[in-house]
Amino acid sequence: MNEQEWKRAYDEAWRHRNNDCVEETDAELILGALDKKGTVLEVGAGIGMLAIRLAKEGFSVTAVDVSVEALRRAGEAAVREGVVVNWREGFAEALPFPDKSFDYITCCHTLEHVKDLAKTTAEFKRIARKKIVVLTPKQKFRLYAENYHTQFFEDPEQLSNAFGLPRYECREIDCIDHKNEFQGKAFLYVGELAE
Ligand SMILES: C[S@@+](CC[C@H](N)C(=O)[O-])C[C@H]1O[C@@H](n2cnc3c(N)ncnc32)[C@H](O)[C@@H]1O
Repeated sequence: MNEQEWKRAYDEAWRHRNNDCVEETDAELILGALDKKGTVLEVGAGIGMLAIRLAKEGFSVTAVDVSVEALRRAGEAAVREGVVVNWREGFAEALPFPDKSFDYITCCHTLEHVKDLAKTTAEFKRIARKKIVVLTPKQKFRLYAENYHTQFFEDPEQLSNAFGLPRYECREIDCIDHKNEFQGKAFLYVGELAE
C-alpha cells in the first residue's frame, strides 16, 4: 500500500466503525508515566481522547494521525471539551517535526499499526527529549489480523528491543474490561532519553 492507500484505509475504518481503543484506565497509566507538565506529541491520536485528556491536564499537545476523518472528529471533540490541541496529519514513520522538539511522545494502541517499525522508533527517539510512552497489545503473530495490525509484540523484550533505549520500563497490563475496540493484555513501555 502506498501512503494515499494507507490513509484511505484508515479514513474508511473511521467512517464505518469506531476504531478507538484508549480508555480512562489507559489514560491514567500514561499520565502517571509523565513527569512535570510540558510538551507532548501524541502519535496515532484517532478521535483524540488521550490528546484531549492530556491538554485538560495542562500539557501542551500536538497530535498526529494519518486519517483526516479521525482528525476531523478529534477537532470537534476538542471544541466541545473547550481545549486546544494542535492537530496534524502525518505518518509515524516520517513525523514533520524537528529533532528533540517535544518533551514526551505518547502512542497508544497505534504502534501495532505502523508499516515500518524501525523508522517509527527512530522518529520517536529523534523527536522526544524526555520520555517515550507506548501502550500496545500483547499479541502473537498472525498472518491475517483484525483491524490492520502489522506489528505483533508477544513479550516485553520485543517492544523494548524495538526502541533499544538503555533506560526503560516495560510491563504487562490488563485491558480485559475495556468497552472500546481493544480488549485483552497489553504492554506499557516507558523509555527514557538521555537529556
Ligand atoms: C486503533 S486506532 C487507535 C487510536 C487511538 N490512539 C486510541 O487508542 O483510541 C490506530 C490509529 O492509528 C492511526 N494510524 C495508522 N497507521 C498510522 C501511521 N503509520 N502513522 C500514524 N497514525 C497511524 C489510525 O488512523 C488510527 O487512528
